[in-house]
Amino acid sequence: MPVQIESSLAKPQGRCDIRQTAINPNHWYVAALSGEVTHQPYALILWHQAIVLYRDSHGQIHALEDRCPHRQVKLSHGLVVGDRLECAYHGWQFDQGGLCAGVPYLAEDQKLPTCKLRSYPVREQDGFIWVFPGDPHQAAAVPLQGLPEWDHLNYIVSVTTIDCKAHFSFLIENLMDMYHGHLHQGYQAWASAALERLEEHPDRVEAHYTAQSYYRIDKIWSISQLFVPALRRLHPEPLDVGYHYPHWRSTLGEDFVICCLFAPVNETHTRAYLVHFTSLNAFWRLHKLPIPFRRFVKNSLFNAAKGLLEGLVREDVLMLEEEQESYGKHPDYRSHELNRTLLSVQRLIQHQSHQAQV
Ligand code: FES
Ligand SMILES: [Fe+2]
Repeated sequence: MPVQIESSLAKPQGRCDIRQTAINPNHWYVAALSGEVTHQPYALILWHQAIVLYRDSHGQIHALEDRCPHRQVKLSHGLVVGDRLECAYHGWQFDQGGLCAGVPYLAEDQKLPTCKLRSYPVREQDGFIWVFPGDPHQAAAVPLQGLPEWDHLNYIVSVTTIDCKAHFSFLIENLMDMYHGHLHQGYQAWASAALERLEEHPDRVEAHYTAQSYYRIDKIWSISQLFVPALRRLHPEPLDVGYHYPHWRSTLGEDFVICCLFAPVNETHTRAYLVHFTSLNAFWRLHKLPIPFRRFVKNSLFNAAKGLLEGLVREDVLMLEEEQESYGKHPDYRSHELNRTLLSVQRLIQHQSHQAQV
């Protein structure tokens, strides 16, 4: 059956190299797991911008430029003192808005320097810290995609990081391409994917595949299918993958959700978080159990599928880094791509990058 294609995405202007394409910064990007930001400053680079995250005395998160205006060293080497961030070098302190608020050796006849660090819109939601690296005036109007399953008592969560020396387009193409199951063999929960329908929109690409799934949650111990392949039985399931720019979400049937939250570092380095949810919604009796017990089950099974995710990531990252390396040697080479989804993904990346420039 031919693939059904629906498109409302304008054709890209001119030709640009997808492997050099910038992000559209006017979106919420993931910066860290909530638990990664404690009372020490936390450093990250989000598309060339060095950012430091810290928690103030009320546990509130702040995101500032990671560059001391005094001598331009990283503020993330410093300390959090009350509600302020203190530079390691001379101890200048900066408040939550990035204003210089204290210098330990200020003479009586000297005023505080009027320097100000850039501060970024930041939110803590669904287990993650999210940062808006673009025009801060647009942040309030841009929805944060979020992960509604993160705190839901009927979902078991597992999460791992991806740290990949490749442009983010290689990673999202990999995630949208359900024909690379060949690489994963025993790790993957489905087989024989076939693309049936493809939708292109200015903010997302949706690819609808059907697949043979190995995975069904019908007994409380079904989750063990993730690590014991002998327990799996094939059955057909819809496999939907979406590039909801700049993040990715996939569902297999009703029990299986995987998301990938992007934090691209630069043109040759991408960080991301891969989050897997196993639904326990099939067990309607669970809803009647006391909430503390359900929370105990959810917490006890946290990261049950982490080993599986890490295995998948290892195999994928090897391929992606080789693609990047080969691209570096042969930047004009045009590959022979048969999966139309990947062309849609490339058009969306170009469209979004162009949006940031207009
Ligand atoms: S370099 Fe930061 S206080 Fe001097
Ligand atoms: Fe993969």
